[in-house]
Amino acid sequence: MADCRSGSDVKKITAAVITVSDKGYEGKREDLGGPLTAKILEEHGYEVVYHTIVPDEQMMIEEELKKCADELRIDLVATTGGTGFSLRDVTPEATIAVCDRMAPGIAEAMRMESYKITKKAMLSRAASGIRWQTLIINLPGSPKAVRENLEAVLPTLAHGIEILKGDAGECGSL
Ligand code: MTE
Repeated sequence: MADCRSGSDVKKITAAVITVSDKGYEGKREDLGGPLTAKILEEHGYEVVYHTIVPDEQMMIEEELKKCADELRIDLVATTGGTGFSLRDVTPEATIAVCDRMAPGIAEAMRMESYKITKKAMLSRAASGIRWQTLIINLPGSPKAVRENLEAVLPTLAHGIEILKGDAGECGSL
């Protein structure tokens, strides 16, 4: 269960999903990665409060990331798509541009676990980082990759978010 406890008050961790896809944005391809990301997050107790789709345009991705972090104050933003080698793939660059601090271990863990499933995992340039109190993670676009990458990090993600929000102490005996 992804929640933050402060006294007797139990609040769910909020999440946003940003699908990054030219074809999805133009309605030429059904977005499967975004809805699956939201479904998996909800199954793990996150409250998905925002979902949008943008083309592979760095400025538009940056604007959505900033909106989620600064206006909507969402705890976790998961992007899906645009992490590969295509010249249009700029999701990591947008993420790096808006983050105050990078959290590279999350993307590294995704690649490490994914590499055990497919060597193509090395082709994901996904980044992960923090903008003020919002954690941003990049996921690849395919539903298979979304599931495999999320499952690699979800068990540990909530603890990091709780520390970021000041709702948990440091790691201690965990
Ligand atoms: N990671 C996992 N776990 N499973 C996958 O099938 N696909 C890879 C990689 N990461 C994959 C994966 C492939 S083929 C690519 S090209 C990159 O993610 C980038 O995907 P994207 O361009 O959809 O973001």
